[in-house]
Amino acid sequence: CGIVGYIGAQDATPIIIDGLRRLEYRGYDSAGIATLDGGKIDIRRAQGKLVNLEKLLGEKPVSGSCGIGHTRWATHGRPSEINAHPHYAGGIVVVHNGIIENYLALKERLRSQGHRFTSETDTEIIAHLIEEHHKQTRDFEAAVRRALGEVRGAYAVAILCEQEPGKLIAAKLGSPLVVGKGRGESFVASDIPAMLSHTREMIFLEDGEMVVFENGAMRFSNLAGTPLEKAAKTIDWSPLMAEKGGYKHFMLKEIYEQPRAIADTIAGRVLEEKGEVYLEGLDLSATELAAMEKVFIIACGTSWHAALVGKFLIEKHCRVPVEVDIASEFRYRDPIVNERTLTLLISQSGETADTLAALREARGKGGKVAAICNVVDSSIARESHGVIYTHAGPEIGVASTKAFTTQLVALFLFAVHLGRVRGTLDQAQGRAMLDALVTLPRKVEAALELDGAIEQAAREYMGARDFLYLGRGNQYPIALEGALKLKEISYIHAEGYPAGEMKHGPIALIDENLPVVVVVPHNDTFEKVISNLEEVHARGGRVIAVTDHTDPGLTEKSDAVFMLPKIIDELMPVLTSIPMQLLAYHIAVLKGTDVDQPRNLAKSVTVE
Ligand code: G6P
Repeated sequence: CGIVGYIGAQDATPIIIDGLRRLEYRGYDSAGIATLDGGKIDIRRAQGKLVNLEKLLGEKPVSGSCGIGHTRWATHGRPSEINAHPHYAGGIVVVHNGIIENYLALKERLRSQGHRFTSETDTEIIAHLIEEHHKQTRDFEAAVRRALGEVRGAYAVAILCEQEPGKLIAAKLGSPLVVGKGRGESFVASDIPAMLSHTREMIFLEDGEMVVFENGAMRFSNLAGTPLEKAAKTIDWSPLMAEKGGYKHFMLKEIYEQPRAIADTIAGRVLEEKGEVYLEGLDLSATELAAMEKVFIIACGTSWHAALVGKFLIEKHCRVPVEVDIASEFRYRDPIVNERTLTLLISQSGETADTLAALREARGKGGKVAAICNVVDSSIARESHGVIYTHAGPEIGVASTKAFTTQLVALFLFAVHLGRVRGTLDQAQGRAMLDALVTLPRKVEAALELDGAIEQAAREYMGARDFLYLGRGNQYPIALEGALKLKEISYIHAEGYPAGEMKHGPIALIDENLPVVVVVPHNDTFEKVISNLEEVHARGGRVIAVTDHTDPGLTEKSDAVFMLPKIIDELMPVLTSIPMQLLAYHIAVLKGTDVDQPRNLAKSVTVE
């Protein structure tokens, strides 16, 4: 979900709406705003996307130079106006991200104290709880502290109080919240892009911290009331960087940004002469890394597919066993972790609740923890011993593209680094790998030239009900990713499978209605995959091949062939990802779906 708050001299509503628009990708089941004007709180809420709220505000405007807004992704209670934030109780109004775990117990207690609830949300409980404490203390700040002290779970909240106008309070525990420092005005939001057009000076709240905005100033403290000094950081993303830049969708823009995003991720990290890699934020010494006996790579969604590719890179070049797991599985299975275990978390947002919990699980067991993240200072980045940032820039499209390929690049850099410090890669090998890496941005650019041909193919295959994606080895994760991309944005059922495993099941599905995307670069298993492709062809299946090798057998048996440039096998997954992204994108556009905000999905899943 997205939170935006404003307090200053301007009309709060347009600032908040603009901020919410930039966060809409975080959730869009409903939206709402509350402003405080002359001691009176006004609330407008609407189900569905932000435009519905804007329409409502057009008919029934609100005023005030202090306000809070929210776009919601439903957790407790279905998407509806009643469940939309802000939630109000006796002069207190709240917007909230996260989940209150003990909400049922709190609700019972508040009910017995005479409180009546109108929504199914856990957030409304926070409003009532603060109201209750406010009745007793007559002090907004104290009431917030006491209420949050009783809450278990995760939250980022922004709160206003009718009895104490001119004050805005925000606090966080487990969900992100950032403060923007303007001139005589202040902003608070769950995410940086919401405030970027107003200020670059940002202050990151830590868990258990709160901020009180009043009289043009801000005061930080912890929940116990101890004052805190917090320094601002300058964020250099331009607001334009987070806009569509002339493309029809953020997703397409982000697909085309990949050569640059990859180049940025490589920049300053390659010591080509020495065949070494410099990873500035990794903060784990060569001795520590060399001592590792086991690596876990943990992630969710698309980032998990990157993790699967990472296993090939690290096992091959660093000769250390790697186990890949989905974060929500890892965290509950009592994994075997000790001080000689390195757990690598991969997360674009750095805020995915399950991944964060997996991190804490591994750290709690005494393991070393490093992260690959795209969002600077995100929770996962901050809680890790070391971090390798992907420099993809903000990714707005819900379906991850440039974040994924830059994760692959970060994993490659990490594998070279680890191989060098462990002595499993010598200087010449390191140099050869890095020589290949620096050619990657140009080759991704060449791969993007397939766009037109892929759009053509998309027209041909868009009517299919199901798709199968096949790949072997380090291309199996790309088959999974291709299938996921298609499902996410076109709503066509798709499955990724290891090509050699097809004969044990999916082969039964093959007929002339089933397009099969086969990822078949010219590597050690090329011939094997060609045989698998033949099995599809022989049963009337329609083959879409993605390769870097001209082969008569392949052309004969395929309905379409997409030819990529050549590169070392370790980097081939980056190139094969490009046609996967473009195929899913064009099919979705042709089907007329909401490409950037596919139904039921959220960019950043900060709940379990
Ligand atoms: C959500 C997004 C996916 C993403 C996954 C993990 O499900 O829709 O695109 O891959 O979360 O997100 P993360 O930020 O941890 O990489």
